[in-house]
Amino acid sequence: MKEIIVSPSLLAANFLDLRQEVEMINQSQADWLHMDVMDGVFVPNISFGFPVLEAVGKVCTKPMDVHLMIVHPENYIEQTAQAGAMLMCVHYEACLHLHRTVSKIHEAGMKAGVALNPSTPVSVLEDIVKDVDLVLLMSVNPGFGGQKFIENTIEKIHRLRQLIAATGSTALIEVDGGVQAETAPRLIVAGADVLVAGNYVFKSTDPTAVIHQLKHLSSSTTL
Ligand code: DX5
Ligand code: ZN
Repeated sequence: MKEIIVSPSLLAANFLDLRQEVEMINQSQADWLHMDVMDGVFVPNISFGFPVLEAVGKVCTKPMDVHLMIVHPENYIEQTAQAGAMLMCVHYEACLHLHRTVSKIHEAGMKAGVALNPSTPVSVLEDIVKDVDLVLLMSVNPGFGGQKFIENTIEKIHRLRQLIAATGSTALIEVDGGVQAETAPRLIVAGADVLVAGNYVFKSTDPTAVIHQLKHLSSSTTL
């Protein structure tokens, strides 16, 4: 039985108590920390940028999974690496030369991920999936936490799983948006490897217990 990677999304954390929130993640069973950078252009919202990534990177003991919802992410590869990211995920829709960007992310010493908006089919990844370490499927429209899960994601995971198998890729499948008690087990059964959860973790009364529950779900779900 495979182990699920749990990556809580800092976007839903209490920014007035960021150090405490990161300490909670450090003490928890979270595998990674998901960080959402938004520019107000690629998505209709602005979150936080590199000064915050750097500050968090200094106290966070978990690998940082950085999700860039910005135009021209290729201009920020060095800054993302400097901040200490383990993985840099760029949007397919934001990259004109995705192969070049993926190569540069690897050259900078990071794992490379590519994210797809809900309306972008997995077939666009046919010629790149072998070169990436992770594919992030957005299960809500990017830009905001706390949105309703888009059901089509389940089918999309199946199609991506087939594409990964057909191409001999080793890419992990990450799902981001609307992950909670009802959707998480179904995502695991469908073939997700990494679950991102923002509101479900940080807005709960006991975030550590919710993270534990997500990990426990993964080991009790029949695949
Ligand atoms: C949305 C972000 C997500 C967000 C998920 O654009 O990419 O990572 O934090 O939030 P929840 O889990 O609350 O849907
Ligand atoms: Zn995200």
